[in-house]
Amino acid sequence: MRLDDDQVQFFNREGWLFLPELFSREETEFLAREAEAIYAANRPEVWREKSGAPRTAFAAHLYNEAFAALAAHPRMIEPIEQIFGEGVYMHQFKINAKSAFTGDVWQWHQDYGTWKRDDGMPEPRAMNIAIFLDEVMPINGPLMLVPKSQHAGDLEASHDLQTTSYPLWTLDEATVTRLVDQGGIVAPTGKPGGMLMFHGNLVHGSAGNITPYPRKIVYLTLNAVSNYIRTPTRPDYIAHRDFTPIKTADDDALLRLAQARREAAE
Ligand code: SIN
Ligand code: MN
Repeated sequence: MRLDDDQVQFFNREGWLFLPELFSREETEFLAREAEAIYAANRPEVWREKSGAPRTAFAAHLYNEAFAALAAHPRMIEPIEQIFGEGVYMHQFKINAKSAFTGDVWQWHQDYGTWKRDDGMPEPRAMNIAIFLDEVMPINGPLMLVPKSQHAGDLEASHDLQTTSYPLWTLDEATVTRLVDQGGIVAPTGKPGGMLMFHGNLVHGSAGNITPYPRKIVYLTLNAVSNYIRTPTRPDYIAHRDFTPIKTADDDALLRLAQARREAAE
C-alpha cells in the first residue's frame, strides 16, 4: 500500500496522517479479544494504572500470534518504508487500554524526547502508529495532537515520575500553550480499524477516560533501520534490540488466523 502525494505532503506539513478504517471489523474484533486476554494475564510486560486497571501491555507481538501478524502487516509497514525510504524495525510495541471509568491521563509530551534520552536514538526518524481497536470518540480520551509542532524540534522536557504509573518526559504548560496557539489541537476519532501515523517530535497527550467505553489503541514505533538505538537503558521489552528489517506478512494474515481460531473453537 502506498500513500499518494497529497497524503505525503499533508504528513510533512502537519506531522500526522489518519487513515480511517484501514483494518476491517473482523480483524479488529479479533485483535480486541486477544488484547483483553493479554490484560488479564499477570506478566511483567502488562503495566497497570495506580487503580490496578491495565494501562499498557508491551511487546505482545513477541508472544501473541495475532499481534505478531499485525506487527508485520503490509497495510501498516509499507507506507512507513515509503516515508523513510528504507527498511524499518519495531522499536516499541504497546497496547494502551485507556480502560472504561479508570483510564488515566497521558501528559503532553513528544516521544522522541524519550527515545533520545532513554534509548540513545540518533534522529527522530521513527514513526508512531496508533491502530484503533475500539471506537475512539471525543468523550473517551482520544489522542490529542498539536499539528505542526514537530517543526519545533526536540523540546526541553522534565521527567514526571508522579502523575501516573508510567514515567514520562513531559512538556511545561508555557511550551504547550505557545505551540497550540500556532497549530491548534486535533483529536482524530473513528471506528475500530483506523490508523493514525505521527512524527516522533509531534506534541501529543490524552485526558482520562471516565466513560463506560474503553479506548484500546495499539501504539507502535517503527524505526528506520539506519537509526537503530545506540545506548538503550530501558528493558528490551520496552525498547527492542532486534534491528532486523521487518519482512511483511500477507495482507490476509490476520483474517486467516481469526478463521483458524474460530474453527478450532467449533
Ligand atoms: C502515548 O503517547 O504513548 C499514549 C497516549 C495515549 O494512549 O493516549
Ligand atoms: Mn507518546
